[in-house]
Amino acid sequence: MNSIRRLTKKDRPHLKGFWIEQWGAAQMIVHGEVIQYDEVDGFVHGDWNGLITFSIRGDECEITSLDSLQQGKGIGTALIDEVVSEAKERSCRRVFLITTNDNLQALGFYQRHGFSLVAVHRGAVNESRRLKPSIPLIGASNIPLRDEIELEMLI
Ligand SMILES: CC(C)(COP(=O)(O)OP(=O)(O)OC[C@H]1O[C@@H](n2cnc3c(N)ncnc32)[C@H](O)[C@@H]1OP(=O)(O)O)[C@@H](O)C(=O)NCCC(=O)NCCS
Repeated sequence: MNSIRRLTKKDRPHLKGFWIEQWGAAQMIVHGEVIQYDEVDGFVHGDWNGLITFSIRGDECEITSLDSLQQGKGIGTALIDEVVSEAKERSCRRVFLITTNDNLQALGFYQRHGFSLVAVHRGAVNESRRLKPSIPLIGASNIPLRDEIELEMLI
């Protein structure tokens, strides 16, 4: 049984709460751009135990968030596969995403799942912090949180 479904308009309030809970705000700041919770497409796994959001512009698909609340059970992989299929259907040339320099878990996960590192945007998180002061100075694994790392999958 496929327990993944598309986000609908009715899900927006829940999505807002989910982002606040997981990421501290109802918007993401990546590459200097503010991405609001009500501007993204997405897929939900089960009863909100996983969520992926994305945005397709031209022939590029950007994954704007990915969260699994039950890790190591294939939820993250299934959500990525869903977005990659959609990107292919919509004739995208690549799927890309930004993660941060401290997120070693995500950097490993994405590279094991077909993504390659394509750029380091040095100091980009420091810039984002001006717009969103709640972004901590120290991130996961006690690593100073300062750079954006771009990964892509060509499709
Ligand atoms: C990164 C993240 C989304 C991965 O989600 P996940 O649901 O744990 O992903 P999966 O379960 O599909 O894969 C994780 C590992 O479990 C393994 N796995 C998958 N299904 C499995 C199963 N049934 N039994 C055992 N292991 C399994 C996968 O092979 C994978 O191993 P690998 O990374 O060594 O290849 C998750 O860790 C997360 O939410 N992190 C916090 C938020 C975050 O950092 N998001 C990304 C920011 S851009």
